[in-house]
Amino acid sequence: MGSAPQIAVVPAPRADAPRSPARAPRPSSIALKVTMAVTGTVFALFVLVHMIGNLKAYTGAEHFDPYAHWLRTLFEPLLPYEGMLWILRTVLLLCLLAHVGASIVLVVRARRARGRFRRTGMGWRRLPATLMPYTGLVLLVFIVVHILDLTTGTAPVAPENFEPATPETAHAYHNLVESLSRWPMALFYIVVMVLLGLHLVHGLLTAANDFGVTGHRVRRYWALAGAVIAGAVAVGNISIPVAVLTGVVS
Ligand code: HEM
Repeated sequence: MGSAPQIAVVPAPRADAPRSPARAPRPSSIALKVTMAVTGTVFALFVLVHMIGNLKAYTGAEHFDPYAHWLRTLFEPLLPYEGMLWILRTVLLLCLLAHVGASIVLVVRARRARGRFRRTGMGWRRLPATLMPYTGLVLLVFIVVHILDLTTGTAPVAPENFEPATPETAHAYHNLVESLSRWPMALFYIVVMVLLGLHLVHGLLTAANDFGVTGHRVRRYWALAGAVIAGAVAVGNISIPVAVLTGVVS
């Protein structure tokens, strides 16, 4: 014997009943912040290693060019010429797209949530945090200029006598010196490296929050390590255009 079908009676919502909360936006802000923290950490490691590589300029063309050539022939013959370089370029490009994309969504959400209210009374210590979207934008422009200048050798950004790398040799030292001998370009590099330092100081601290690093002491050490890395990257890199302008590297 089957039981009689039951009909549930659902009362219609009253007009003045409280509304159900709005659906959480997708992807969640936490997922976006973790994406920014992971990709930002990849960038921080890249600029640190790149700065150490740049310091090889002090050892002259006979060491700098083989280093640039080695980057292109890494894992040959397993990989073709520039194979490893293209893998690194692809990883960096994907990180860049994810980092910039997530930052745009987060900034828009933060502006919407804040409405017409503005934060006030932010001392100079909060300057790197306040400037984050602007320093990020300048870095984006810098990356494009930098690649046209020293990788593709595209006029009018690159020096006139730019020499492209060949499967036999790289001319990275010559291109570096030719480019940074132009004082407006050297000045541009110096200013951007100061902004990179500011971006890194705050970025590394924020990454610690987003990775869930808690505990007063651990956070203090993390902040200190972030400031040391940011300072080292900025000072190490700034020293290169200064060395070219003053003839120490020529
Ligand atoms: C004063 C600071 C800097 C100097 C002197 C410098 C120098 C160089 C040089 C000489 C190259 C060409 C290397 C080669 O031909 O093998 C290069 C490539 C590159 N640099 Fe920098 N760099 C600086 C800062 C930066 C910063 C801050 C970033 C990232 C935000 C960056 C990202 C890159 C990238 C993505 C490439 C292209 C690598 C490739 O695809 O071949 N550089 N840099």
